[in-house]
Amino acid sequence: MTDLSQLESDLLARAAGAGDVAALEALRVEALGKSGQISELLKGLGRMSPDERREQGPKINGLRDAVAAAIAERKAALEAVELDAKLAAEHVDLTLPAPPERRGRVHPTMQALDEMIAIFAEMGFALAEGPDIEDDFHNFTALNFPPKHPAREMHDTFWLPEDERGERKLLRTHTSPVQVRVMQRVNERLPSWVANGQEPPIRVIVPGRVYRSDSDATHTPMFHQMEGLVIDRTIHMGHLKWTLETFCRRFFETEKVVTRFRPHHFPFTEPSAEMDVQCDRSGGSIKIGEGSDWLEILGGGMVHPNVLKNVGLDPDEWQGFAFGLGVDRLGALKYGMPDLRDMFAGDVRWIDHWGFSAFQAPNPATGLS
Ligand code: DAH
Repeated sequence: MTDLSQLESDLLARAAGAGDVAALEALRVEALGKSGQISELLKGLGRMSPDERREQGPKINGLRDAVAAAIAERKAALEAVELDAKLAAEHVDLTLPAPPERRGRVHPTMQALDEMIAIFAEMGFALAEGPDIEDDFHNFTALNFPPKHPAREMHDTFWLPEDERGERKLLRTHTSPVQVRVMQRVNERLPSWVANGQEPPIRVIVPGRVYRSDSDATHTPMFHQMEGLVIDRTIHMGHLKWTLETFCRRFFETEKVVTRFRPHHFPFTEPSAEMDVQCDRSGGSIKIGEGSDWLEILGGGMVHPNVLKNVGLDPDEWQGFAFGLGVDRLGALKYGMPDLRDMFAGDVRWIDHWGFSAFQAPNPATGLS
């Protein structure tokens, strides 16, 4: 005969000492499950005599109730401890500093470009754009590059595969083809303009990406240029010089900029010149506005009569100047960056260091950069 009080004290002690909910569940199955110890005792009641049953029944039922209550009590306690531990582990420490917020920066090329646009816009230039994928006519032929001329090779052109008409497009090697597009467009409207007494001056700048198969510290296969074009009846080299000198003083934000024109050759201008700025190269960095070294920063000249003819303008009536400058190179010069290739390497640390705040929009009146 099972000693009920011994069994009860054993089971109650094991319930009270169960370390976790799983151990408690195992105990419940062992005692109260279908063939558990107490369940077997309850089944035994049916085989007893009525007197025995009257005596044993309340005891076994009492044992079952006491063990079930002890298990439930221990379960509630264990669950409370588990919840406390979870809450302690998961609590949010509101005194911790917030994670840093990543803020975008304006790329120095775009900053330089915005500064240039602000300066030329103030001088009355409008903005024009053209396609990056060009044809040979706009990139070379209309600009007076003779067929098979070595200058075509000098540009290290990226050619695209031949299309179904046997024509090979190219990635434009300079922004000069947009001169041609602008002048063609103006020429189409010329008769109606003249009829209305509104003859053009054309005064445009053309910022954009250009491509050449070239890569070293001062050349990248993709870079940015800005073209300038002014066409009117009496425009001459003096206007070009004044425009570029004024631009340089404003862009470099110093009156001390000294420039010089050096004769040069471009197929699309005659005469042609390269412009240098005086600078100081000692000490591994370049400073504008001091020193006695020269640095080439752009090309320009008077638009060649053949180019005017190629777009249908009469060179005896119209003339003008054009120039082209390297946006990245001028930006690097102004902000003091040593290697142009870093500009397009996509390193976030680089842009964090050299980039500009989006709120520093260039404005000639309040300061550019
Ligand atoms: N297109 C020339 C280049 O990429 C730069 C240039 C020179 C543009 C003289 C001009 C110009 O408009 O007149 O090397």
